[in-house]
Amino acid sequence: MGDKIAFGIDVGGSGIKGAPVDLETGDLTAPRFKIATPQPATPQAVVEVIGQLIDHFALPDGMPIGLSFPSPIVRGRIEWMANLDQSWVGVNLVDAVADGTGRTVTTVNDADAAGYAEVAFGAAKGHPGTVAVMTLGTGIGVALISAGQLWPNAELGHLVINGRDAETWAAASAREREQLSYVKCARRLQRYFTEIDRLLWPDLFVVGGGISRKHDKFLPLLKLRPPIVPAVLRNTAGIVGAAVLAGKAAER
Ligand code: BGC
Repeated sequence: MGDKIAFGIDVGGSGIKGAPVDLETGDLTAPRFKIATPQPATPQAVVEVIGQLIDHFALPDGMPIGLSFPSPIVRGRIEWMANLDQSWVGVNLVDAVADGTGRTVTTVNDADAAGYAEVAFGAAKGHPGTVAVMTLGTGIGVALISAGQLWPNAELGHLVINGRDAETWAAASAREREQLSYVKCARRLQRYFTEIDRLLWPDLFVVGGGISRKHDKFLPLLKLRPPIVPAVLRNTAGIVGAAVLAGKAAER
């Protein structure tokens, strides 16, 4: 275990989770703590929960904190929101957390955080080429990492295919809502991943999100040009990626 530790927080539609992370190994140094996402998930309510996580772990003042959040984030600002409360649009996330908790956080899109963690410690560890990490959950998140560098805010879950936002029919939530079999679900994912491949030509696909626990039910059905593998870090990837990026930001 190294002595460099940062704290990662992952804001999701159903839970807000946090844990301290060893930056050398990517391991959690204490069990993850989860608080249910308040409904409605307004800025004030979510920032309050972030404060509760910081208090729960009694984080020392100087510890870097990374915050993974389910929207594109431009210089700390939420410009657009798909699946949390719409009152987030126009809010500066860094300022809101500083006002509510007195802490400075490094913010990152949730898929970017998860993707970064998979390349640092997981299924694509040390990959020298272009990796597309796809998180299938309430929405579809996409992280693009090429030669270890992250291209942030690749909102390709909202690629329009046949006139429809891809995440509305190919996310894990669509499978639950429409009670699709894994075979049907794989057919949709085949269409979606083929389109992503046609546009980006990644060397590797990594599939994460809750549904990746059942990867054996649908990944073998997909026929794609590059290899496609399940994520390794699963439900801690957002925490780990956010912590690592916060640790890097603190070094600058
Ligand atoms: C959001 C992305 C997010 C993804 C996964 C999408 O609806 O637009 O920013 O990464 O869901 O949470």
